[in-house]
Amino acid sequence: MLEVRGLSAGYGRSQVLFDLAIEARSPGMVAILGRNGAGKTTLLKTLAGEIKPMSGQILFDGREAVGESTEQRARRGVGYVPQEQAIFGKLTVKENLLLGAISQKGPSRIDYVLDFFPKLAQRLGQTAATLSGGERKMLAISRALLGNPKLIMLDEPTEGVWVGVIEEIADRLVQLSKERSLILVEQHIELALRVADYVYVMDRGSIALEGTAAQIKDDPRLLKYLAP
Ligand SMILES: Nc1ncnc2c1ncn2[C@@H]1O[C@H](COP(=O)(O)OP(=O)(O)OP(=O)(O)O)[C@@H](O)[C@H]1O
Ligand SMILES: [Mg+2]
Repeated sequence: MLEVRGLSAGYGRSQVLFDLAIEARSPGMVAILGRNGAGKTTLLKTLAGEIKPMSGQILFDGREAVGESTEQRARRGVGYVPQEQAIFGKLTVKENLLLGAISQKGPSRIDYVLDFFPKLAQRLGQTAATLSGGERKMLAISRALLGNPKLIMLDEPTEGVWVGVIEEIADRLVQLSKERSLILVEQHIELALRVADYVYVMDRGSIALEGTAAQIKDDPRLLKYLAP
């Protein structure tokens, strides 16, 4: 589904990503770990098309995506749930979903996402700002799902979520990864190693370690790369 080769990117002249190679298959879930500032968000932004790479290739289904806008990539099936809230706090849950559905072709998928996250169905008239952390994340994921993406990139979907709800979100991600390709950026290492098939550990903008979740879990270098 996704193949990245020799990817370097940054902000202006400051380079953040150095010669990355990653792959995400469909179906399946890839986790990207790394301490604060390692470059995880920068990587997802580059894959989504918000940042233009300095060099390298980004192939979606074998076709080059560098040079395509965020909208073009979204139309090709790339869904992105950013780390910052991707929802409108002053609008209701329903309005957030309706706005997300406007740009979609084909039948509305609002019923599908409300089945997928039944908690949201009970909150349709509530403004998004009054939702709990977990419900906000569910709404952000739902908005991405409205586009029926083949690849979904999630930047810390359990950040700020009460522990009791984290498992619920994790279950949903596992469910999605059975039929789509997921790239999960996570700070909850134990959770990521449990739900992902394959793991990349980033250190200062490079891939320092990679392997199956089982391999990475037992790798003594993991702690070194994740220690603050
Ligand atoms: N808009 C920006 N302009 C310049 N530098 C930036 C910008 N955004 C991030 N950086 C820098 O890029 C590096 C990587 O940041 P990034 O947000 O990708 O890390 P991260 O792994 O997502 O961290 P976190 O776990 O805290 O979310 C950091 O050194 C950061 O200061
Ligand atoms: Mg980040």
